Amino acid sequence: MDAISLPRRRSARVLVVDDNRENAILTRELLHTDGYEVQIAGDAARAEAIIRENPPDVILLDVVMPGKSGIDLCRELKNNPETRLIPVVMITGLTDRDDKIRAIEAGADDFLNKPIFPEEMFARVKSLLKLKEFTDELESAEDVLCTLGLSVESRDPYTAGHCERLADYAADLGEHLGLHADELIALRRGGYLHDIGKITVPDEVLKKGSNLTPAEWQVMRQHPVTGENICRPLKSLREVLPIIRHHHEHWDGSGYPDGLRGEEIPLLARILQVVDVYDALRTVRPYKRALSHEDSERVMTNESEAGLWDPQLVRAFFKRLQRGKAA
Ligand SMILES: [Fe+2]
Repeated sequence: MDAISLPRRRSARVLVVDDNRENAILTRELLHTDGYEVQIAGDAARAEAIIRENPPDVILLDVVMPGKSGIDLCRELKNNPETRLIPVVMITGLTDRDDKIRAIEAGADDFLNKPIFPEEMFARVKSLLKLKEFTDELESAEDVLCTLGLSVESRDPYTAGHCERLADYAADLGEHLGLHADELIALRRGGYLHDIGKITVPDEVLKKGSNLTPAEWQVMRQHPVTGENICRPLKSLREVLPIIRHHHEHWDGSGYPDGLRGEEIPLLARILQVVDVYDALRTVRPYKRALSHEDSERVMTNESEAGLWDPQLVRAFFKRLQRGKAA
């Protein structure tokens, strides 16, 4: 027995999608003998239900199926942030070169030719599971950092729920602006991670709010760079780093840490900034009352005219909120 054990210490789970039931059962038996937990689906719809309910660690997917083809299913899985990290092995005929090219374009991770040779299948499944194990570990590392972000938030009782709201607002505004799925993921993570550098800011400074002494300001102003340093080792957070570093820049160049101005400030950072300011205005803090939606819009419009925020983004944000309310 050569069972692969993942970090969760359970048997690896394989989903076999094939409309030929005999083939599917044979593949299941083979994989069972190698210690895997196997589910089978006769078409794309059944496969999607299984994936939703209990995501597998690897999928063996027949190209030709009635209804939605294996290639279409593969493309959908790879376009969906929830499922794109699940390795997909496409099963094709030996001579179907066009199928292979289409499968590569759809994002397939590997191929198996029919008839399937057990040793070849075991080798491919095993190597893809190894890869999955690494991506799972990376995901857990990201989860740890996001939890750390939340723990920073929890040090200040007045900012409860702030990270989550920012993640929602920022991804929503990004979607409204037509951004790519990867950028939306970065915005969501940015909601949780942008202030992670405050972990090194002492409580008495963090909770003081306004009226910081120059020395305290200096400590506070370091949090974007500290946060960037904390998250830099994780390659998967590459797109989040500019959000963390630049979320306190100002449109007119008066912000920190780099004094960037206008569109020099990365777009994702400007988006997070707009939703961050809005949420801060709308919530009560020890040193200020909560503003109404209308007053927040007035304040932010004035501040963007005064050079603090990207005026176009502020307009787009309130337009989006207005549309959301009307819907
Ligand atoms: Fe901040």
